[in-house]
Amino acid sequence: MSDWFTIAWRDDSVVMLDQRKLPMQEEYAIYTDVDGVAYGIQAMVIRGAPAIGVAAGYGVALAAHTARPGDDLDQVLGRSFDLLSRTRPTAVNLFWALDRMKLCFAENRNQSLETIRSALLKEAQSIHTEDEAVCRAIGEFGADLIPDGATVLTHCNAGALATADHGTALAVIRAAVNQGKRIRVLADETRPYLQGARLTSWELYRDGIDVTVICDSAAGHFLSRGEVDAVVVGSDRTVANGDVCNKIGTYPLAVLCRENNVPFYAAVPRSTIDLTLESGADIPIEERPAEEVSMWGDRRTVPVGVAVRNPAFDVTPSKYITGVITEVGVAKAPYGTSLAELMARPDPTL
Ligand code: MRU
Repeated sequence: MSDWFTIAWRDDSVVMLDQRKLPMQEEYAIYTDVDGVAYGIQAMVIRGAPAIGVAAGYGVALAAHTARPGDDLDQVLGRSFDLLSRTRPTAVNLFWALDRMKLCFAENRNQSLETIRSALLKEAQSIHTEDEAVCRAIGEFGADLIPDGATVLTHCNAGALATADHGTALAVIRAAVNQGKRIRVLADETRPYLQGARLTSWELYRDGIDVTVICDSAAGHFLSRGEVDAVVVGSDRTVANGDVCNKIGTYPLAVLCRENNVPFYAAVPRSTIDLTLESGADIPIEERPAEEVSMWGDRRTVPVGVAVRNPAFDVTPSKYITGVITEVGVAKAPYGTSLAELMARPDPTL
């Protein structure tokens, strides 16, 4: 049991560990309305696709809780769906969670305000608790792929901080460690937002897991010297043909794995799989503010006036992916059929 949490519903408010301040400060942000939750997602107080989905669910529940008797709920909730859906475009869990909340409202719309409030809160809490169970199941399937004594390289943070708990890529590592395997982790620092340096190292170190931070550009060095046995990453959206969208810098890592004969796995809950899109080229890629690249804290690192591009995600073509680890099993090529088959399986968490 950890002594921290990523997100919680407490006393009619949404509480998030403020990930912008890690690793130096462990502070919780408290939001009492949906605008606050939308800000928290957009400003990356909370981040990581599954955690964004959980936050969005609670955001809608909060909108219903702050509605006053006599308010037009269609209008109040419609505004919350709209507001939340504009926070981050790439993580499909956001839209998946909002669709669940919309359906829940549609099923209860003729009930009293009190009943609607509790139905929406219950749905948001289900999204939260199901994600925790899903992450554990991903860990169990993934751990079987990791040999004892392995060094596993990961990119960004696909850990407990990015989910309800345990993580996706980091659930695989946690489960392997829990099986008694000796595992060493190399965490890419993950420019420009440093999710690997600040967050992955923080949560693995807290769990006593052997973790070493490396520069993103050092990954090829370690791969080429045989110092990495597997790469495991998360995903923000994985589409019908098996293309995996994840934090910027994932694609070059996958190409390096192919060149060096190292398996490359994506750990992906089914809530992150979007079968409505054929290929990764169709995924909207978020571009974040230039300041994330041009500033190092308070210090400018790019001359004033020089242009900066800051795409937050890239797409790894499925041909580079050894396996997609889900909560119901591991999909392998051809992904067009294997992913569709895994998506059709019953939910193990219900
Ligand atoms: O911009 P972020 O920090 O939200 O990006 C997060 C990632 O890219 C993660 O790898 C992904 O969301 C999977 S989290 C289980």
